[in-house]
Amino acid sequence: MASIRLENITKKFKNTTAVNNISLMIADGEFFCILGPPGAGKTTLLRIIVGLEKPDEGSVIIGDDAVNEIHPSKRDISMIFQNLALYPDKTVFENIAFPLRQQKIEDEEIEKRVVEVAKHLKIDWLFEKIPSQLSGGERQRVAIGRAIVRQPKAYLMDEPLSNLDALLRLEMRVALKELQTNLKETFVYVTHDQVEALSMGDRIAVLNQGKLQQVDDPAIIYRMPNNMFVATILGNPPMNFLKCLLRRKNGTLQIEHAAFTLNSEDKKVFSLLKAGVGATGIVLGFRPEDIKIHLSKPGTVSIPAEIYVTEPLGSETIVDIKLGDNVIKVLAPPDFVGEPGQSVWITANTHKLHLFDESSHECVFHATEKSAFTIEA
Ligand SMILES: Nc1ncnc2c1ncn2[C@@H]1O[C@H](COP(=O)(O)OP(=O)(O)OP(=O)(O)O)[C@@H](O)[C@H]1O
Ligand SMILES: [Mg+2]
Repeated sequence: MASIRLENITKKFKNTTAVNNISLMIADGEFFCILGPPGAGKTTLLRIIVGLEKPDEGSVIIGDDAVNEIHPSKRDISMIFQNLALYPDKTVFENIAFPLRQQKIEDEEIEKRVVEVAKHLKIDWLFEKIPSQLSGGERQRVAIGRAIVRQPKAYLMDEPLSNLDALLRLEMRVALKELQTNLKETFVYVTHDQVEALSMGDRIAVLNQGKLQQVDDPAIIYRMPNNMFVATILGNPPMNFLKCLLRRKNGTLQIEHAAFTLNSEDKKVFSLLKAGVGATGIVLGFRPEDIKIHLSKPGTVSIPAEIYVTEPLGSETIVDIKLGDNVIKVLAPPDFVGEPGQSVWITANTHKLHLFDESSHECVFHATEKSAFTIEA
């Protein structure tokens, strides 16, 4: 078991900065997810930790040891890749036992460790089968068993589920989370799938173009994204954004959009105005589940709008709503019925709105229960 610390890691390939000055602390026994789009630098970062890639700058510290100069084989870290190939002629038992046989470990010890790992993965009843007799999920479990049987200090996984179909992924997500809970070892899990990151990670690091965007608990990263990129990569459909103006009017602060106005008395919003943020434009962000659609005008203050398209998904309906010149996505119940062009009214969870700086895309304000906006239609 070990913690992993990265200090100011930078790695360039010719003109590409694959990893740009990243510092991270991964705790001993943590399930740590790295989430980012293709090309973000996720694999490069894992390869640097395991030692397959040498950073141009910065240090990798595993446990208490700086390992920059230590060969991958001596770092005692197991890396699990996207394609987990098994030996087709070996039994499940021998596939899992293979790394231990290579280390010339005694038969008795091998038996003990293979059985233990297989029990964790619930494949101990498959020992005598060969890979062609297994289902896809069973095969994946065997491959993971083989990777973890040598009991390394930490496990690095690079999108190990991306080749599986949706149902298998669901099953393997639970299996991996359960495995880590039982082993209590350090897992670093790379994915571009926000559902995997949200459901498995104790913490998530969001990476984009080699730069760390945010590191936090899944709930915090979802509720309080640092910037528009993080707000977009998490959530399905992602956060809605509307360009607005920030003004002072009649003693209150107003976020103005063609279809509505939001009022705020919050000092922090006032300081944004004073600092000149939002004079030319500020971006209002809100999640699809924080808006409610009403088919008739409700008693509370609401914003008139129009249905653009409805997308029924079985368990819920995504409704695209026209708001002035913009279209936003709203989550509605599965039995929602509405026609394109139909007039509706919307209300918002005003304590779950966010403001982003239009030029830097950084979040400059998260509303809370105490500093909610009031709506003026
Ligand atoms: N050996 C290499 N030579 C040149 N460029 C490389 C090399 N490895 C990675 N890169 C570049 O570095 C950037 C980061 O690549 P990396 O493979 O780490 O991304 P990733 O986040 O793992 O992407 P994916 O989700 O597609 O696997 C990319 O722009 C890639 O083209
Ligand atoms: Mg990759």
